[in-house]
Amino acid sequence: MDYKLYVVTQEGEEREISYKPYEYNNLMELVVNELWEDWGDCMGRAICGTCHIEILGAYHAEPEQFEEHTISLLPNKKAKSRLACQITPDKRVNNMRFRILKDFD
Ligand code: FES
Repeated sequence: MDYKLYVVTQEGEEREISYKPYEYNNLMELVVNELWEDWGDCMGRAICGTCHIEILGAYHAEPEQFEEHTISLLPNKKAKSRLACQITPDKRVNNMRFRILKDFD
């Protein structure tokens, strides 16, 4: 069974992405595969903050301590900020809507 995610890109376009649970290690890899060729400077180690997203809508799991620290250093952090590389694309994020933040959005 395929699940769905809704992504608002940096250009403000909303895109729908289908995925199978555990097909990707994390949400960043899924987005890279579906939308971009390059995203996430530290390759998923929660250090760089370049895969910063804002969750829109209901789903919001609290970040782990290390992720929270990286987010706290970002000038554009939001109440529902997450790092896409730290989210597992499983059934819990089915229908999640989020937007990709620009560097200083
Ligand atoms: S890829 Fe660097 S924090 Fe996610």
